[in-house]
Amino acid sequence: MKSMDSIRSLLQRDEVFEFLVPEVPPDLDLTHGIILYLEGINVCFDGFKAINELNLYINNGELRCIIGPNGAGKTTMMDIITGKTNPDSGSAWFGQRINLLEMDEPEIAAAGIGRKFQKPTVFENHTIIDNLELAMAGNKGVWSMLNARITSEQHDHINEILQTIGLKEQYRNPAGSLSHGQKQWLEIGMLLMQSPKLLLVDEPAAGMTHQEMERTAELLTSLAGDHSIVVVEHDMDFVRSIAKKVSVLHQGSILAEGTMDEIQNNQQVIEVYLGE
Ligand SMILES: Nc1ncnc2c1ncn2[C@@H]1O[C@H](COP(=O)(O)OP(=O)(O)OP(=O)(O)O)[C@@H](O)[C@H]1O
Ligand SMILES: [Mg+2]
Repeated sequence: MKSMDSIRSLLQRDEVFEFLVPEVPPDLDLTHGIILYLEGINVCFDGFKAINELNLYINNGELRCIIGPNGAGKTTMMDIITGKTNPDSGSAWFGQRINLLEMDEPEIAAAGIGRKFQKPTVFENHTIIDNLELAMAGNKGVWSMLNARITSEQHDHINEILQTIGLKEQYRNPAGSLSHGQKQWLEIGMLLMQSPKLLLVDEPAAGMTHQEMERTAELLTSLAGDHSIVVVEHDMDFVRSIAKKVSVLHQGSILAEGTMDEIQNNQQVIEVYLGE
């Protein structure tokens, strides 16, 4: 008995060491209805100002389109949000309390920001459902996933996503058998496996057939509300089909913001972009 007591006293800890307390990121705080704040951002590449005093605010649940000429800084803006590029100055907040500029890429992804690059990066030799399961592993690593049993909740989530991306029938087919557009949807599905709150999508319509574009427009529109989505796109017909609010980026700053009609009739926008 006595020895048990002494073991207990040894295990008892009156002091809490800072380094032993796991770091928990603050919750996503959306009380003001804004999910992303970019303020006064500047990025210089070898003396070239790619981003210049950029301010951008994205509302929770909105689908925002960003347009602008080549080199305007659209992809660089996404690089800043996802932690790939550090700005020289400015601030970037996810909700009111998560400071993106203090986080690295995996931390930002884990906090709920998903990004879709232009080129699909699905595992061609694996089936569609395997691709979704592998995406679910996320930061936990592929091995932990392959050795783990899928819970019924996870199974439902996968089914729901297969339905959303329109690939339910062919879920056992290898991803390599899909068309370019279908691969893009699968990749969006892989992002959705992580249940992101904010999705960044760079040029989703590029290389798609007209029919695939229409389906992609439906998909992105259906995701808005539960997710906030920022879409960068050059194809104006596609933008028109999904856009509520459009922001025009030019020389690293916002030149204009408004509905598609307002943007298309804006004299400055016509001069720098649409009039090309
Ligand atoms: N890592 C880098 N090093 C140097 N310059 C860069 C780097 N990344 C981007 N740039 C430059 O910054 C500018 C903005 O590039 P960015 O890729 O953000 O433009 P964009 O609006 O996405 O253009 P596009 O419509 O062609 O995709 C360009 O002039 C580009 O050459
Ligand atoms: Mg780009």
